[in-house]
Amino acid sequence: MFKLLINLKAYREASAGEVLKFANIVNELSKEAEKKDVQLILCVNSLDLRNLVNMKANVYAQHIDACDYGANTGFLVPDLVKSAGALGSLINHSEHRIDFDLVEKTVDISKKIGLEICVCVKDDGEVKKVLEFKPDFIAVEPSELIGGDISISTARPELISNSVEVSRGVPILVGAGVKNAQDVKKAVELGAKGILVASGVVKVKDPKTAILDLISGF
Ligand code: G3P
Repeated sequence: MFKLLINLKAYREASAGEVLKFANIVNELSKEAEKKDVQLILCVNSLDLRNLVNMKANVYAQHIDACDYGANTGFLVPDLVKSAGALGSLINHSEHRIDFDLVEKTVDISKKIGLEICVCVKDDGEVKKVLEFKPDFIAVEPSELIGGDISISTARPELISNSVEVSRGVPILVGAGVKNAQDVKKAVELGAKGILVASGVVKVKDPKTAILDLISGF
């Protein structure tokens, strides 16, 4: 099954009450997505996790920490995220990078508790490094294209194919600047098993139409 991860980041347009709008859209479109073998997932602020789980949306945390219950002030305990009903989490997003030893520890913890873990990296060199930790997914996003109008599929197609080539079977998701069905189609043709998107859905007038278009590219 392909994944379409919609990362709401900390955009004001998707914060507080606004997040419900995105959960409703995703719920509405989930049948359409299933027809294309696509799972829609919202990557949300930790404050919104439980609410969205209660609305039956598939949710990922945007980050978790390599820690357990105890004296860990301000850290996000993976088991709390799991017990809130989240499906998984991103880690090491370009906007929230951590050391590779912490990536390894976080992947280990997540796998033990059955929380899907998607490690974000910037290129195929980093794919090689993190696949040793055996994450469920690796997301390749060149930071210079994030939030822009030119997609990874258009600007760096070789990054997608090279990442898939070195991935030794770990599913590769890609993102950065993805806006439309063409971007998705190209990425999938190059071997990507899913897409991460943020501004192309959150910052547009009609998020529902944008998501439908992205689904049609799979
Ligand atoms: O996590 C996805 C994100 O970094 C991509 O952002 O705005 O380029 O779709 P955007």
